[in-house]
Amino acid sequence: MVIKTAVTIDWSTKTKVVYLGYFEGFKSVDFNSYGIPKPFLDAVLASAKDKELSGKSGNQSVFVGQGKHLGQRIVLVGLGKKDALTVDVLRKLAGEIGRNANASKLSDITIAMPKEVGELDSSWVGQSLSEGIGLGTYKFDQYLSKKEGKETPLKSVTIVAEKAAQTAIKKGAEKGVVVSQSVAVARDLANTPANDLTPKLFVDYVTKLVGKAKGFKVTIIDAKKAKQLKMGALLGVGQGSINPPYLLIVEYSGAANTEKPIALVGKGVTFDTGGISIKPSTGMGEMKGDMGGAAAVVGALNATMNLRPKKNILFVTPLAENMPSATAQRPGDIVRAMNGKSIEITNTDAEGRLILADALCYTVKQKPKEIVDLATLTGACVIALGNSASAILSNNEGLVATFKGIAEQTGDRVWQLPLYDDHLELLKSNVADLLNAYEGRLAGTSTAAKFLEQFVDGTPWLHMDIASTMSSNTTKGYTPKGMTGSGTRNLIEYILS
Ligand code: BES
Ligand code: ZN
Ligand code: ZN
Repeated sequence: MVIKTAVTIDWSTKTKVVYLGYFEGFKSVDFNSYGIPKPFLDAVLASAKDKELSGKSGNQSVFVGQGKHLGQRIVLVGLGKKDALTVDVLRKLAGEIGRNANASKLSDITIAMPKEVGELDSSWVGQSLSEGIGLGTYKFDQYLSKKEGKETPLKSVTIVAEKAAQTAIKKGAEKGVVVSQSVAVARDLANTPANDLTPKLFVDYVTKLVGKAKGFKVTIIDAKKAKQLKMGALLGVGQGSINPPYLLIVEYSGAANTEKPIALVGKGVTFDTGGISIKPSTGMGEMKGDMGGAAAVVGALNATMNLRPKKNILFVTPLAENMPSATAQRPGDIVRAMNGKSIEITNTDAEGRLILADALCYTVKQKPKEIVDLATLTGACVIALGNSASAILSNNEGLVATFKGIAEQTGDRVWQLPLYDDHLELLKSNVADLLNAYEGRLAGTSTAAKFLEQFVDGTPWLHMDIASTMSSNTTKGYTPKGMTGSGTRNLIEYILS
């Protein structure tokens, strides 16, 4: 998709469809600045007079050209209330525009926004528009024999803006293309069913993605190596499946090797049945997305390959399939993580924190500056936050502030939950150093995070529980139904910050 900029709208018949933004409570004169040709303008103003135009966010009204504008169209797209305008409003709008363009089989479109949009940061305006289109038109159709709407992908988008803002808009828009492609990588991985994405196939995918890219190094730790490294927690989860577990590490050197890396760690449970503590069957298929954390980390890796930030970064994904079988781990078993801590298994369905425990131990040994982990970790997170935000928990308020700031721009919302010493009390075992899960119903997201904290050895660390945001059951804004790739955009802005 090529992004172009222009100072005014080209109303010649070359332009087929123009998308025009407008606010709720607009005045008719607001349309003047677009230079809409007479017959079109009359139709728009007549609709406005008849109160057919609401300007509500997501609202679309189509005007078909007459006479010499035959074959041309204006689509008025509502931006909602003027004082509620943010880059995420634009991103959502762009998602709707993208799908509308796809449905009309358009390859080139023009977008113009009211002057108030100029008050937002120009590069974010460009980024949100191209990102929204890319994210909103995403389809997971590899398994469909008949693919719909792919025949005419959008080839070019012309953004109308004043001269001074154009360079920033274009630059932002180009970044937005990379970001949406990287989220698509994460969504593809999370949407791929577990029969086609075992831990080994995940490793193969990433190895192929990285290929021979300069500055990247892939390390694959298989079960044999994991045993030597005493990764008893990862191995315990993986032992019930015929598809063995892995720890996959990709190192990126974008700065001097004296500079400490930042580490991104993602839960990669390619399928979570719950193990012997088996889950109820309704909705269990969703658990093909229980590697959403690892998928987001690979999405960020994809962005790193394209944007090459001047940082050193470790991408770490523990991978396992959590199955019930004759060889599966049992409740009551005691395993030992790489740092020597013993863990009594109370519930084999609390497997994510176990594989993350060893991944965090391994990561800490690489002496990173900071660790950010992402995981579809707890059902309690879904109960607490619905689908509206991911939970963040941290031992470092600076990292919390960083992620809150990032999420303001990305719209990939986060909400902080507490991490108290009380939560560790709930993980006390009589026979081991820790329980893997507290068996009551209190503070499920916090106790899970508190468990993880036992393996970061004081390193500044932030945990993001994306169980709440991993999937969407509607198509809306820039989020099509299915796996969302949540967390990916926050990680990308974090590594670029
Ligand atoms: N993968 C699940 C968490 C999850 C639930 C993600 C719903 C997305 C949607 C995780 O492995 C799990 O099963 N957690 C348990 C922990 C409990 C046994 C302490 C849970 O949250 O129920
Ligand atoms: Zn589980
Ligand atoms: Zn899980």
